[in-house]
Amino acid sequence: MSDGPAARFVIGPDSRPAFTRYARLHEDRARGRTVALAPERAYELDSIGVIVLSAIDGRISVRDLCAKLAQQYAAPVEVIARDVTALLQGLADKRLLRDGPDPFKRPALSDFARSITPYEGGPAGLLAELTHRCPLQCPYCSNPLELERANTELTAQEWGETFRQAAATGALQLHLSGGEPTTRRDLEDILAYAVEAGLYTNLITSAVLLTKERLARLAEIGLDHVQVSIQDIVPDNADRISAYDGGVAKKYDVARWTREFGLGLTINAPMHRQNIAHLPQIIDFAVAVDAQRIEIAHIQYYAWAQLNRAALIPTRETFLETVDVVEEAKKRLLGVLNFDFVIHDHYASRPKTCTGGWGKSIIAVTPSGKALPCHAAQTLPGLVFDNVRDRHLGEIWRDGAAFNAYRGTGWMKEPCHSCDRREIDYGGCRCQAFALSGDPAATDPACHLSPDHARFAAFAETESQAPAPAFVYRRYGGAATD
Ligand code: SF4
Ligand code: FES
Repeated sequence: MSDGPAARFVIGPDSRPAFTRYARLHEDRARGRTVALAPERAYELDSIGVIVLSAIDGRISVRDLCAKLAQQYAAPVEVIARDVTALLQGLADKRLLRDGPDPFKRPALSDFARSITPYEGGPAGLLAELTHRCPLQCPYCSNPLELERANTELTAQEWGETFRQAAATGALQLHLSGGEPTTRRDLEDILAYAVEAGLYTNLITSAVLLTKERLARLAEIGLDHVQVSIQDIVPDNADRISAYDGGVAKKYDVARWTREFGLGLTINAPMHRQNIAHLPQIIDFAVAVDAQRIEIAHIQYYAWAQLNRAALIPTRETFLETVDVVEEAKKRLLGVLNFDFVIHDHYASRPKTCTGGWGKSIIAVTPSGKALPCHAAQTLPGLVFDNVRDRHLGEIWRDGAAFNAYRGTGWMKEPCHSCDRREIDYGGCRCQAFALSGDPAATDPACHLSPDHARFAAFAETESQAPAPAFVYRRYGGAATD
């Protein structure tokens, strides 16, 4: 590790804040607003926020900036200083600001991105599954049961056209995912198209195939952020879960190089009974490699993970311990590491707003070009998916039958239909509802109001107490057991 773990950047009068290489102000032309673009997020700014954040450059001090604004707006400097400091501290604690200019250059906004016209209600993000090929065999793989073959994959040019269409319909964030996206030899070309489309780019990778030279090339082209997924931090156990030897050492390397090149870094740790005891070490790892974010997500059980449910479900007690570990770490690591914690559905009483609501914020495109409202939508019966090879992405988003199937609240049955949370969680996860009840329009069983909730919680208790069965590994080309 080059510089070691970060310390909290505390904003004071002498601070000279600037955006990091992996965060920036962005004119969201589709929605007519300005946002701060950051890993996995776009923070909407009011007019004062835009003025302040347009002025910071790593050279002007907070004291001088406040004096200038006080004069310009004829306002008391103490009031300005209080508001400016609060705004900047909030962003500094998200690790989007640094003291002094960032030596790394972020990609310039392209002419194409400047030409985008307003678009009503488009997706905020595009999940591009570049390939289903993967060297790992994780038993909780979220790819569909039927993997798509390499010879059906969209070409780099086809992805380029898809990115332009996504950006024109309002997408800000692009997640380059898989399978393992680095198995694509033309990843550099694909990334160049994404940068040209003006999208904030996030590479989601297991890291095991990346070399320093290749990551340097991707950074040079304009990659913003890397999300490194980890199976565990204890090498033997990580090798066993992924059926791949030596992954942990590679993840250390790639995480370190990511920061060396000034890119944003998130550690993504899916949680289950076979790695849950190591959560404190996983958090320590994220701090040691200077990640700004960590996603700790208890697994959801559909697609391949459903086959391994009994091998993966933790007990309620161990799940509750993770809540305590995360709460303690959040306080201790304020301004150093940001947490996204996805709790275990079987031990929840309310469901998650899955994918931000069906057809509301995310569009996923499979390797062969099928456009999906969520990455697991192919597990649901009766849906027809349009292909980006045949239809404009904006049209699919607005009019596609699969996108309208569970959009909004009109499709809901009771208890969701008359529930006052229906526009908050949109009835939870369709894929989970179908996996348990056989009805894709049922209430997510994670909800305590679902008639399936008691059964959902009970089998988790039973399965988690029994000895874990062998994994059914996810193998490209077939399954295997340990
Ligand atoms: Fe959400 Fe439906 Fe449960 Fe209400 S009943 S909280 S809308 S899942
Ligand atoms: Fe499909 Fe939740 S994963 S709706």
